[in-house]
Amino acid sequence: MVSFRAALSLASVLVALFARATLADNPINPSFSYGSTKVRGVNLGGWLVLEPWITPSLFDNTGNDAIVDEWTFGQLQSRSTAQSVLTNHWNTWITEQDFVDIAAAGLNHVRIPIGYWAFEVGPGEPYISGQLPYLQKAVGWARNHGIKVIVDLHGAPGSQNGYDNSGHRISFPQWHSNSTNVQRTDAIIKQIASLFINDQDVVSVIAPLNEPAGYDGSDVLSVVRQYWYDSYGNIRFPYGTSQQSNTVVLLHDAFQPLSYWNGFQTPPNWQGVAIDTHIYQMFSQDEVARTNQQHISAACANAPALSSFDLWTIVGEWTPAATDCAKYLNGRGVGARYDGSYPGSTAVGSCAGLTGSASGFSAAYKTFLRQYWEAQVVTYEQGAGWVQWTWKAEDADEWTYQAGLKNGWIPQSPTQLQYPNICG
Ligand SMILES: *[C@@H]1O[C@H](CO)[C@@H](O)[C@H](O)[C@H]1NC(C)=O
Repeated sequence: MVSFRAALSLASVLVALFARATLADNPINPSFSYGSTKVRGVNLGGWLVLEPWITPSLFDNTGNDAIVDEWTFGQLQSRSTAQSVLTNHWNTWITEQDFVDIAAAGLNHVRIPIGYWAFEVGPGEPYISGQLPYLQKAVGWARNHGIKVIVDLHGAPGSQNGYDNSGHRISFPQWHSNSTNVQRTDAIIKQIASLFINDQDVVSVIAPLNEPAGYDGSDVLSVVRQYWYDSYGNIRFPYGTSQQSNTVVLLHDAFQPLSYWNGFQTPPNWQGVAIDTHIYQMFSQDEVARTNQQHISAACANAPALSSFDLWTIVGEWTPAATDCAKYLNGRGVGARYDGSYPGSTAVGSCAGLTGSASGFSAAYKTFLRQYWEAQVVTYEQGAGWVQWTWKAEDADEWTYQAGLKNGWIPQSPTQLQYPNICG
């Protein structure tokens, strides 16, 4: 704990000493006017961090049902097989053409999830490393096509939430309860800030940790708050001097209402901090039971909180999907609430025609996807903007920006709305 406090006091001293000087400068990243220009972006999910639902074939091809995340992907099959499958995936899942297409779709940001194991792997951790050169390539492609990059640490040592998308699907995530894990994460954020120190015009945002499990209680939240202070120092002061970077620090709300973060790291003493909130409507029985109109109304109801919050608020994950039907969405081998195949759930209806290939989607369903997409875009632009989850997936078109563009429920430019008054 001593080193956390020391890092906090260093950050506080630097802030106190230099707040006045930096206020006179433009506190906004000169390459993008956060807060006035809307963030319109897409996540490159399932690329540098595997997710079973995004690439089910990589998991099914192992022939081993116990391989449910990237940890077990490295642990429960031959290392050379895992290495070659991953290398092929990194080389093919996202290429420069995706950046061409993302720019052509009128988007200005990508958020790129990456795990701590791209930076260092501890003893006994079965992860396979090698993702970092691809992140660096992606930054070059983003530069070529005028796209900003949010580098998003999506998995921390010990796992910050136990989800498969943190790298390790476990019941008792151990990031927050083990100070070694937190210190390792601090060092990785420092490393990321230093790696892109000369690319702040492209890597304009660093998100120091995706979705820490704040719902587990105040012991988690107090570690998260301290880690956010340390991250501020690590991201805003990467030069080892009083000179401040332009990089925006994007803090996830840890599943707390925005009001929980009122006054946290706000100007003028803190510069360039934004809050990231994720809005989904399918991870509870009540939510999957909503009608289409109720999904749309619930999305619109976020507007007051987003427009009034005292930091820039980016909805860093959301989707036009309204069910949990996508194969493996709740984990490899786990069913869906919507059709009652998830333990303890009550069926709402059949998943047929609601997931998989858009060729099986009805015209009415595609119209709903368009309306729900537009309701969310209109609402999230009441805040600082949005980043949809996710660009592509093997077999869940309702989730992907690519399929939405191709099949017409996402417009070729995000300002071409058919239902601009859908939220009334
Ligand atoms: C804390 O985590 C580190 C890995 O980061 C591990 O080596 C150590 O055994 C853990 N400590 C405890 C008490 O679990």
